[in-house]
Amino acid sequence: DESVSTSFKRAAAERAVDFIQPGMVVGLGTGSTAAYAVRRLAALLSAGTLKDVVGVPTSRATEALAASLGVPLTTLDVHPVVDLTIDGADEVAPDLSLIKGGGGALLREKVVAQASRREIIVVDAPKLSPRLGTKWPVPVEVLPFGWRSQALFLESLGARVVPRLALDGAPYHTDQGNVVLDCDFGPIGDPAALAAKLESRAGVMAHGLFLNLATDLVVAGPEGLTHRVR
Ligand code: A5P
Repeated sequence: DESVSTSFKRAAAERAVDFIQPGMVVGLGTGSTAAYAVRRLAALLSAGTLKDVVGVPTSRATEALAASLGVPLTTLDVHPVVDLTIDGADEVAPDLSLIKGGGGALLREKVVAQASRREIIVVDAPKLSPRLGTKWPVPVEVLPFGWRSQALFLESLGARVVPRLALDGAPYHTDQGNVVLDCDFGPIGDPAALAAKLESRAGVMAHGLFLNLATDLVVAGPEGLTHRVR
C-alpha cells in the first residue's frame, strides 16, 4: 500500500535527521525517502531548533528541493569533507551493502558518500534483501559515446540490460549527461568482484553497487523503527 510505504519512508528519514548536530556539513540524498529528510531538516532550521547546518546536495533535483525550502547549500569544493549524509537506497543486504541509483543520481551520491564520515541509509522494510540483485537491477551509468559497446560488455558479465528511458520515452540522461543501463544480474554472488569488473571498464562512469559505504541503516516497517550500525 503506497501510503503505508510512504509513512515508513518518512519515519526512517526523520529518525536519521535526529543525528544532525549544529555546525555540521550534511549530505542531502536523492529520492522520495531522502526528500523527507530534507523537508525535516528545513523545518528544524526554520524553527531555529537546529542552527549552522549546510547541505551538500547529491543531485540537481535535491538541490532544487533544498533551495526551495531555504536550506543553506554548499559544495564539495568549499567543504570537501561531509560530516553526515542521509540517503535512500533501492536494495539493502544484511552487511549494509546497497544497490542505489533508481533515481539516477548514483554518481554524485557515491562521490558524496565517499566524502562522508558517516553515511546513514534510510529505507522502508521491503527494501531489505538477503542478497543484492534479488529485488532490483544494478544501474550502470555509461558515457553516451560507445554505450552499445558497454551494453554488450555488461551482457558478457551475465546481465540482462535495459537502457533507461525518461518519462517521454527518450533516453534518460543523468545530471552529468550520461545514460543509464539497468542491469539485471539476478542475485549477485560476489558484489565486490562485479564492482571491480565494472570499475575497470572505460566508459563506465559509475555503478549502483555501494559496498562498505553505509555506516548506519535506519529501517521503518510494521514492527517499528530499527537503527543498525555497521
Ligand atoms: C537515487 O539515485 C537513488 O539512489 C535513491 O536513493 C533510491 O532510488 C531510493 O529512492 P526512493 O527513496 O524514492 O525509494
